[in-house]
Amino acid sequence: MLESDMRLRGKTAAITGAAGDIGQALARRFSEEGARVALIDRDEAGLATIGAAFGETATTVAADITDESAVRAAADAVRSAFGHVDILIANAGIEQSYSTVTDLSREEFDRVVSVNLTGAFLTAKHFMPIVADGGSVIFTSSIAGLMAFPAYSAYCASKAGLIGLMRSTSLDVASRRVRCNTIHPGPVKSKMLARSAHEATDGGDTDGWYAAMAGMAKMGRLVEPEDVVGLALFLASDESAMIAGQSIAVDGGIVQ
Ligand SMILES: NC(=O)c1ccc[n+]([C@@H]2O[C@H](COP(=O)([O-])OP(=O)(O)OC[C@H]3O[C@@H](n4cnc5c(N)ncnc54)[C@H](O)[C@@H]3O)[C@@H](O)[C@H]2O)c1
Repeated sequence: MLESDMRLRGKTAAITGAAGDIGQALARRFSEEGARVALIDRDEAGLATIGAAFGETATTVAADITDESAVRAAADAVRSAFGHVDILIANAGIEQSYSTVTDLSREEFDRVVSVNLTGAFLTAKHFMPIVADGGSVIFTSSIAGLMAFPAYSAYCASKAGLIGLMRSTSLDVASRRVRCNTIHPGPVKSKMLARSAHEATDGGDTDGWYAAMAGMAKMGRLVEPEDVVGLALFLASDESAMIAGQSIAVDGGIVQ
């Protein structure tokens, strides 16, 4: 790509959950578009493998986003490496074990909310001071934040909660022209979906389960990580400078 065509030329980005399927795809494309990228994840082995492929355009930081001192240290490490970030993507998240609300344990509810919502809060809290004026903050929610799925109350609550977190945060930082938005992928072809397929079918007919998931979308296919990247790239680039407080689905038309 010609340097002049790069949409994130000269920018820096920090991405949590960067060892995962969506995080990796985000990091790869952002790097191709000219950004220097901080890859943050609790999966140290995954980070080491992925980081090696990026060379000097990336830095890796191992951190568990539920551990406040680790998040603070991660923000310090990114500040040391880049000085500031123009783009922050609070993307790390986990799925829930399927369970109706009466059978759902307090421990499982807390586990999911502590990563998906409290972890995103800690990420925003400790990284916001290094987000440059005019920057972009993106929270990876899910269509489960916009619509209900049965036996999935902790995940739905955590992903809906991100909308409130994002909107209020957006007001807190608007005077610095920092914009915050949530993105809401539908079912993405990914390891996370594979784990859910395995659990939902008890290791049985995952093909049928995938077909049902793909069939939810008006476009009749699963979301690819690159579909999510397309939306995130727009929200990270200067083209979206006046888009703030918005929640946008990338789901082939499921939620409308
Ligand atoms: N895969 C889907 O179908 C789908 C759909 C909608 C939304 N999402 C959301 O997209 C985001 C990325 O999901 P993915 O599909 O890439 O999943 P993934 O499991 O491939 O990646 C998630 C990454 O987050 C990291 N992570 C988990 N807990 C962490 C913690 N406490 N601290 C630091 N890192 C942690 C994991 O190590 C992993 O690398 C998640 O927030 C997920 O909820 C996924």
